[in-house]
Amino acid sequence: MVSGIAKLRFIRYASTYCGRKRISIVGSGPSGFYTAYRLLTKSEVPLHITMWEKLPVPFGLSRYGVAPDHPEVKNCEDTFTKCAKEFSRPGQKHLFEFIGGVTVGEEVKLTELLKKQDAVVLSYGCTGDKKLGIPGENSTKGVFSSREFVNWYNGHPDFATSPKFIDFDWSKVRNVGIIGNGNVALDLTRVLISNKISELWSGTDISPIAMKCLQRAPIQNVKLIARRDFSHSKFTNKELREMWELEKYGIRGRIDPTYFREDMFNLNTIKDRAFKRRVEMCSEYLKPYEQRTKRNYQKFLPPGANGQTWELDYLKTPIAINSDSSGNLSSLTVCKNEITADNRVVSLKDQELTYELDLLITSLGYAGQPLPEFASLHIQFDKSHLAATAGRVLTTQGSTYPGLYASGWIKTGSTGVIASTMMGAFEVADVLLQDLPKLPSRPTGPVDLTHIAHTNWHHWEILNKRELQKGEEQNKTRSKFLTYQELQCSN
Ligand SMILES: Cc1cc2nc3c(=O)[nH]c(=O)nc-3n(C[C@H](O)[C@H](O)[C@H](O)COP(=O)(O)OP(=O)(O)OC[C@H]3O[C@@H](n4cnc5c(N)ncnc54)[C@H](O)[C@@H]3O)c2cc1C
Ligand SMILES: NC(=O)c1ccc[n+]([C@@H]2O[C@H](COP(=O)([O-])OP(=O)(O)OC[C@H]3O[C@@H](n4cnc5c(N)ncnc54)[C@H](OP(=O)(O)O)[C@@H]3O)[C@@H](O)[C@H]2O)c1
Repeated sequence: MVSGIAKLRFIRYASTYCGRKRISIVGSGPSGFYTAYRLLTKSEVPLHITMWEKLPVPFGLSRYGVAPDHPEVKNCEDTFTKCAKEFSRPGQKHLFEFIGGVTVGEEVKLTELLKKQDAVVLSYGCTGDKKLGIPGENSTKGVFSSREFVNWYNGHPDFATSPKFIDFDWSKVRNVGIIGNGNVALDLTRVLISNKISELWSGTDISPIAMKCLQRAPIQNVKLIARRDFSHSKFTNKELREMWELEKYGIRGRIDPTYFREDMFNLNTIKDRAFKRRVEMCSEYLKPYEQRTKRNYQKFLPPGANGQTWELDYLKTPIAINSDSSGNLSSLTVCKNEITADNRVVSLKDQELTYELDLLITSLGYAGQPLPEFASLHIQFDKSHLAATAGRVLTTQGSTYPGLYASGWIKTGSTGVIASTMMGAFEVADVLLQDLPKLPSRPTGPVDLTHIAHTNWHHWEILNKRELQKGEEQNKTRSKFLTYQELQCSN
């Protein structure tokens, strides 16, 4: 830990910050950083922004969510870095400080922030899992949530070395089921089905521990199980195309003709252009190469099938996860569904099917979690996100909580890409700037961190340099440190 350096910086800041409005932002993912960026670049009133992050390092899901083979998505980190660097130099109008390794609600209380700051923005994302609520979901070995799995392969310190993954017998994994068909489910499918294509992964920052486990798995099929039909698929076209293009490695995609056939859709009458492209894409890729009619689908002659497949399955609701006598996953029981004219899912309880599976991932979305003090502060928390209007957090009585704001996934639930998260964060920052002169004035001050071990931006800069350097030595974009011990050490 760098508590010595941090202490010095704290004393310096404490003595020079008088007169600035104090704003705390909880969370250093895209929403926290875009909120900070907007505030710092738009505010005429001098600001002192403190960003609190529970991990020792910044960037949230940009670092621990976005797939390792999509490094261009992480370019947002350049803007965040520029923002942090530019505004953490002392002697300027605004000041920014990053405090890592501190969980708000635990080491530092929200109540304390609300007392000592002019405003607080909650941008702490969704840190839990949505659940199916069916038998076997929590107890079966070989069943993981998308959040656990993604965190594991991205080297998150809570998961990277977890025995739940490392002690799992990967050598037996042939058939994989994924519940849900959003873009996270596609990320998971790509990682799993291309586990033997080392050229896809060797230059990325995927956790080497995860890669080693995954490479041991003789994966044959990954089935994405959706409760609705093809027309309600949740993934987007760019990500789906990436799946089809795995044919260049001999990996093939499948959709049972019950759920998708070219003759089910008339391309001339489909109005939604994205959906029309999706229908065309699937129709073309499902044809043998030489029968494809559009050049876009004949970019390269695919090699013979290598036996590995991914498959879009539809109209199934999971009803039970079954295990063998040792508690290992054996199969998933589903029932068939129908979609009504008004788009409701009706489960046909008497039409059950069983899928033999060796690994099952529930990819239902992440769930936001309330901070422990919400109940006593009477802050309204709906099912898996905060209740807010125009970014102003609501109380259980429906009024706005003075000086408390929310941006990003904790406000919207786990939906939206980085670009939409940015737009949302900008709107919240603009509302906060409008409110700032009207907020009750109170004697604000720094939070005393003397006895709380934490990291700061300088610490991250050292660590970042080391990760990049280590990566360069191994011909990778980055080589992440995987444990708290390594992440906290900047000596
Ligand atoms: C697997 C996955 C892949 C994705 N891939 C893409 C992609 O390719 N392209 C794209 O545009 N979007 C992608 N997204 C969406 C994108 O990641 C989100 O839109 C964005 O990260 C949401 O930002 P956020 O700041 O609200 O939440 P987060 O990114 O989750 O950030 C929240 C931060 O708050 C911290 N925190 C939590 N609790 C506390 C606390 N109590 N105290 C202090 N800190 C706390 C967390 O550690 C985290 O750093 C992906 C999402 C997932 C899940
Ligand atoms: N490359 C990228 O741009 C990228 C990559 C990853 C993530 N993201 C974004 O991150 C956000 C989150 O993605 P996500 O995939 O986690 O969530 P998502 O898009 O909301 O998909 C969740 C999936 O889970 C299903 N589901 C939810 N509850 C269920 C239940 N009880 N039973 C059965 N199925 C259930 C949903 O089905 P229904 O549709 O029937 O509800 C849906 O198919 C999205 O906005 C996504 O676009 C983007």
